[in-house]
Amino acid sequence: QTKRSYIDGRHPEAELLKEAAELLRAGELVAFPTETVYGLGANALDASACVKIFEAKGRPQDNPLIVHVCNRAMADNLVANWTPEAELCVQHFWPGPLTLVMPKTSKVPEVVTAGLDNVAIRMPSHPVALRLIEETGLPIAAPSANLSGKPSPTSGSHVWRDMKGKIPLILDAGACLVGVESTVLDVSGGIPTILRPGGISREQLEAVLGEVRVDTPSETQAPKAPGMKYRHYAPRGEMILMIGSSERIIQRMGHEIQKGHARLKKVGVLCSLESAPFLHNQLPELLFVLGSKNRPEEVASNLFEGLRLCDERGIDLILAEGVEEGGLGTAIMNRLQKAAGKRVLYM
Ligand code: TXA
Ligand code: MG
Repeated sequence: QTKRSYIDGRHPEAELLKEAAELLRAGELVAFPTETVYGLGANALDASACVKIFEAKGRPQDNPLIVHVCNRAMADNLVANWTPEAELCVQHFWPGPLTLVMPKTSKVPEVVTAGLDNVAIRMPSHPVALRLIEETGLPIAAPSANLSGKPSPTSGSHVWRDMKGKIPLILDAGACLVGVESTVLDVSGGIPTILRPGGISREQLEAVLGEVRVDTPSETQAPKAPGMKYRHYAPRGEMILMIGSSERIIQRMGHEIQKGHARLKKVGVLCSLESAPFLHNQLPELLFVLGSKNRPEEVASNLFEGLRLCDERGIDLILAEGVEEGGLGTAIMNRLQKAAGKRVLYM
């Protein structure tokens, strides 16, 4: 039996936080909103509570969890060594969508880091997340609150669909502001390296840190963030990502819609606000506007809703328009590319 409690995103009700905190202290799971996506939380210091996370999500055991804290002292307990780069990141980007990978202390259970020597830590800025951690008085391990392999949940309804019957409580504060997950940055030593692009861009990091690298896994080298090797955000239907000039994309999409219909496929289109009027008359079964080309924040916040909607509507073929790389666009394209698998068309 899962309880879904609607909570005020700006001024969370004290009784609801107390109830959630009690569950967490008792070793239970609670789903809660952050500014990026919803998290599935457990007491990070309790190994058996954290094991429940992997069970509820169907998550592979070798994929480590991010630990959420509400202040520096809580993080100090978990981190063996802060580099100058880590300190700068804390000053400039916490609380916010930046996760720091640093050497762990023995207080962090093995299951949290999947046996790695480093732990991933972030201080979220969402009032519900911050107040919940404060009220619990414990660091909270939390991956995204979706079933493993599905798009991350950016609303309470997404969490409800994936987690109902599996966890005791969902705190529902409506839609998440950012909509893509945090940037995972290795600041354990040497040149800071982005392991997963996300809510804080490389450009923003470089303005503070100087040179920042990006981990680019290859056929022969596994990604340093174990989670990046899995096919994430995979919708049920086949998906084609199109990158390039809007005119060519619109033309090609029109063609693919007709081809899909000839094969009796239900076709879904995920596109920019600017392209939508030109695709409307091709009569796709779903036309989902991700947002304006000039507002990547808008696209980021709608992205996972769009992917999930395609599944809900039984779409067989998804045609997605890419966005420009750089800034938040890099994180958006990373998620779109993962959802599309290898089916990317450059035009
Ligand atoms: O925005 C977010 O980061 C959300 C919210 C809930 O905070 N959380 C999230 O967690 O996206 P999850 O578990 O879905 O993704 C965590 C990513 C995975 O790719 C994982 O492999 C990587 O971070 N990661 C976690 N701990 C790590 C570690 N010690 N070393 C390297 N990568 C790590
Ligand atoms: Mg996830």
